[in-house]
Amino acid sequence: MSDDKTPQTPSDEELAGMSRAELVKLGMKLDGVELVEYPDPWPVKGTRAEKRAERAVAFWFVVSGLAGLASVAAFIFWPAKYVAPGDDGYFLYSLYTPVLGLTVGIAILAIGIGVLMYVRRFVPHEVAVQDRHDGGSKELDKKTIVAQFADFGHSTSIARRSMIKRSLAFGGGVLGLVLTVVPLGALLRNPHAQSSNKNGLLHTGWQHTSDEKVYLRRDTGDPSEVVLVKPEDLDAGAMETVFPFRMSEEHDEEALSAALLRSDNPVMLIRLRPEDARRVVKHAGQEDFNYSDFYAYTKICSHLGCPTSLYEQRTNRILCPCHQSQFDALQYAKPVFGPATRKLAQLPIKVDEETGYFIATGDFIEPVGPAYWERRS
Ligand code: FES
Repeated sequence: MSDDKTPQTPSDEELAGMSRAELVKLGMKLDGVELVEYPDPWPVKGTRAEKRAERAVAFWFVVSGLAGLASVAAFIFWPAKYVAPGDDGYFLYSLYTPVLGLTVGIAILAIGIGVLMYVRRFVPHEVAVQDRHDGGSKELDKKTIVAQFADFGHSTSIARRSMIKRSLAFGGGVLGLVLTVVPLGALLRNPHAQSSNKNGLLHTGWQHTSDEKVYLRRDTGDPSEVVLVKPEDLDAGAMETVFPFRMSEEHDEEALSAALLRSDNPVMLIRLRPEDARRVVKHAGQEDFNYSDFYAYTKICSHLGCPTSLYEQRTNRILCPCHQSQFDALQYAKPVFGPATRKLAQLPIKVDEETGYFIATGDFIEPVGPAYWERRS
């Protein structure tokens, strides 16, 4: 038995012969939906107002596309290499991140405005009342819902509005491109080419390129002030961040700044407490990398490269604040907690007999920081 709200289920032949409009009506009835209002937003086709509305929607999609293109261009061509405040090119460099954020933001905002305007101007503002149903969907329901979607496209007239379709394809396409280019963009650049070392990712500023000694230097906040480190400068249980320094760079402001700025240079110099130093387990092949109770580890986390700046004296753990990885300073800085899986690279150090200051006896013997394509260890 059926009433007004529950129409009889049509046979397969009847179903096959029904038009889209009839299927929509049937589907709504089967779902207990009563359409109270379903006005065509543009009952008179081709009016100037309708064309104006169409152009307004297309305008925002085009704005989105242009902003997306601008962000791709900025990502590729804008000078992104670090420039210190006061140096030539600093102003342009300082605008890199704002320009990227602004252009991507405009692209997303404009496409949102375009979609909103389209819905407001071209989608019929229907008023419908629907009963709730339990259970899964039948074949009949699936067919009718597909028809309803098709009808949405028809009734909103998107099929015949080529200007909106093309501008949406432009705006949406460029936005999609931006969202693809940004994560893949790093692959466009050769990271080795931007390093002053040969095979840049395998070496750091601690690499010995001549017979010249490489000292451990602290950062006082003034790049031109050179303060070297002696064993008596650190109390037991203390930690100091140090950078490489060569005597030939003493009056070279640019080299002094570059040593402090290079991202793989920072090293933690740790002086273990004597009672802890007795429990140290050294890594094979690195038995002579420490000097007495002094151990030097890279500050660059082996997970994703954050600075592992926290040394907890009581537990001898080195902590990375980004994702809470912890490394054991008594066991060659191997990871003991968190997502990092590689130990922190250890810098070989000793005290220079001539001057009494710490020097590095060589570069790290493994890459510092996280994994990358060619990394073997
Ligand atoms: Fe250090 Fe993720 S970057 S834990």
